[in-house]
Amino acid sequence: MRIMVIGSGGREHTLLWKIKNDNSETKLFAVPGNGGTHDIAECIPAKTVQPEYIADMAIKNNISLTVVGPEVPLAEGISDVFQQKELKIFGPIRKAAKLEASKSFAKEFMKQNKIPTANFEIADSYDGGIQILERRVFPCVIKYDGLAAGKGVLVANDFDEAIDFLEKIYRDKIFGDKNNKIIIEDCLEGREMSYLIFTDTVDFIPMVPAKDYKRVFDNDEGPNTGGMGCYSPPSLFNQELEELIQKNVVVPTIKGLQKENIDYRGVLYFGLMLTQKGPYVLEYNVRFGDPETQVILPRMESNLVEIMEAVTEQSLKQCSIRWSNKKSLCVILASAGYPGKYEVGKEIKGLEKIKDLDVIIFHAGTTRENGKTLTAGGRVLAVTATANTFTEARDKVYKAIDIIDFEGKHYRKDIGLE
Ligand code: AMP
Ligand code: GLY
Repeated sequence: MRIMVIGSGGREHTLLWKIKNDNSETKLFAVPGNGGTHDIAECIPAKTVQPEYIADMAIKNNISLTVVGPEVPLAEGISDVFQQKELKIFGPIRKAAKLEASKSFAKEFMKQNKIPTANFEIADSYDGGIQILERRVFPCVIKYDGLAAGKGVLVANDFDEAIDFLEKIYRDKIFGDKNNKIIIEDCLEGREMSYLIFTDTVDFIPMVPAKDYKRVFDNDEGPNTGGMGCYSPPSLFNQELEELIQKNVVVPTIKGLQKENIDYRGVLYFGLMLTQKGPYVLEYNVRFGDPETQVILPRMESNLVEIMEAVTEQSLKQCSIRWSNKKSLCVILASAGYPGKYEVGKEIKGLEKIKDLDVIIFHAGTTRENGKTLTAGGRVLAVTATANTFTEARDKVYKAIDIIDFEGKHYRKDIGLE
């Protein structure tokens, strides 16, 4: 088989690693990949938002399955282009990807299908936003409607903070000027959990859940990031909770997709808040999570390719997935300054010294130049370990982190400590 993975992050390195582990004969391609994917895949330098070009690459390289990592190419319709050319692709079409690409679309979908989510109002101008804020109690949550790489949400503690965010959106246009919608919603209290499923619209198979750490600093302080660490399974997860999530959230979502004629084939990720009233949906993502994938896939014992093919062929009903009972934990090494401005091009040292430690290094923002591995992004590496206990997994990960070094290395020290 010849499989191509689109994207350049830790999630995509993990996908390639898992596919290779299960199918050693498979020839892998990464578009564009990163400093760590060279070892297992042929890296093709291309932007991930060039669907026609990437489809041509798939034809030229005789690719049998393309797997899309990030949300942007899905929102731009890469799966539609592939399907028109009768190329097999794992990831939802544009209409379905709107569940992530437009938060107002997702909120209306949830309201329509009675899926628990925070009460919300939608504005499409600065003045409209202010009018809503004037009658709101604080804290409340303001969300930019479109894709914003995890930076489009503010939990506003007071009116001034809220206005400040509105000014950035409408006056400074920090997210561009194509989409002028915002959502203002109630602030929910509880613990967060990432619950991901494979679905082909007819059926679904859940993955093991994960807990993501979004804030940049220990004790959940500082701004939101793409994710600074993760572990699986979350401590409060049990069968009763899983049944509740499926009954109140997953099944109504699948039924809603069917009712609204949205053909969804891929991963659907539910960002949940476990409130006193039960699980509420904070957001949908139409793809694997990052860094959730780095802890979920090391626990998957079944062949991922078989599952992805079944999703694309809409035959998921015939599949099941086996998971290991091991605990899995991952810590992100980031560049100083992330999620704000940061420097790149710093040499990463020590990677060869951790080969005997029982950890997996997934590369994210890295590149390889003249035999050296250099930093090339905000989130640089994901260090993952699996073990019988979280204490053991944590020990392995942090031992490796002590050895890996680059200028400005920043990481959270509290991953896996509740
Ligand atoms: P989202 O991209 O919608 O998942 O939001 C990013 C983060 O903002 C979430 O992971 C939560 O930590 C926080 N958040 C979003 N919506 C709410 C809400 N309604 N109440 C409390 N926190 C929220
Ligand atoms: N870790 C959050 C995300 O993938 O969106």
